[in-house]
Amino acid sequence: MPALAVTAAEMVATGKGILAADESVGTMSSRLENAGVEPTADNRAAYRALLLTTPDLSDGVSGVIYCDETLRQRLPDGRPFVEATVQSGLLPGIKVDMGTKPLAGADDETVTEGLDGLRDRLAEYATMGARFAKWRAVIRIDEGKPTHQAIRANAHALARYAALCQEAGIVPIVEPEVLMDGAHSLDRCAVVTSVVLLEVMGELRDSGVELDGIVLKPNMVLPGQDCPDGASSGDIAAATLQALSTVVPADVAGIAFLSGGQGSVLATERLAALRRLDAPWPLTFSFGRALVDDALAAWRGDSERVGDGQAALAHRVRCNSAALSGGYSALLERETVSR
Ligand code: 13P
Repeated sequence: MPALAVTAAEMVATGKGILAADESVGTMSSRLENAGVEPTADNRAAYRALLLTTPDLSDGVSGVIYCDETLRQRLPDGRPFVEATVQSGLLPGIKVDMGTKPLAGADDETVTEGLDGLRDRLAEYATMGARFAKWRAVIRIDEGKPTHQAIRANAHALARYAALCQEAGIVPIVEPEVLMDGAHSLDRCAVVTSVVLLEVMGELRDSGVELDGIVLKPNMVLPGQDCPDGASSGDIAAATLQALSTVVPADVAGIAFLSGGQGSVLATERLAALRRLDAPWPLTFSFGRALVDDALAAWRGDSERVGDGQAALAHRVRCNSAALSGGYSALLERETVSR
């Protein structure tokens, strides 16, 4: 098996998901502030160190995505994050996009930037020990949106990023996120998700990207958060699998879903429902908020409460890992979060 495919397979290994701890400095700072924590570089590092040093994290997590700042930081014990990640039996990853910017010529749509200089940045990240990377494109559903212009621009950038990653020996996580903001229906999200993924797959093919050396990180197909019609986890799982399986070839190494603002328990229930279906690729999670929100709330920047934060993260990892192996239940969810 080629080296990239080996790494990609490790990222989606049975029962394991990917921890997204790669919030940009701005986003992380506002999350810390909302939790009553001063948004300093040291506190951002302390928080990521709390997550990484959670005991037995590698039982349910294959890798951790960081942002550039964290990759250059050290844990309070002095170890660089990459070294500590490897020592914990985890793959280090790096978010390499530079965020969304207004798309010229479009009305309130965005394109993700960060291609300029990316080859050199990837070479440096590879030297530092990063094994995989992430790039997030954002697609919003609204009246007349997304436009083909926005879909094509984002898909093209994702493919150029993915090709550069593979050239550098780094597995790209390809993340086209269709947002759950809005009042659209489940069916509309399904159609948009399929169209976006079709475009992304076409661009990846045209850029010569090896599909067994990527991990696709899509949204689950959900009704918009303001949609009056709810959907069961079973409906969501069926719609998601249907939307993906018509356009995503079976040789993609794996699918790792983002949480996208879903509540953490709902995200787990829906993941469990997805795993009950027969998918052609390994399915797992690459959650940010749905894994770490409880941990941040439990910690609140207090060094005495590091254990509480870690227990909260360990609980969510245990639940999501159980969802992947068919062992998730409401009972497990109610289990006391133990320190
Ligand atoms: P969420 O699970 O919070 O959506 O974050 C995942 C992610 O990596 C977004 O880019």
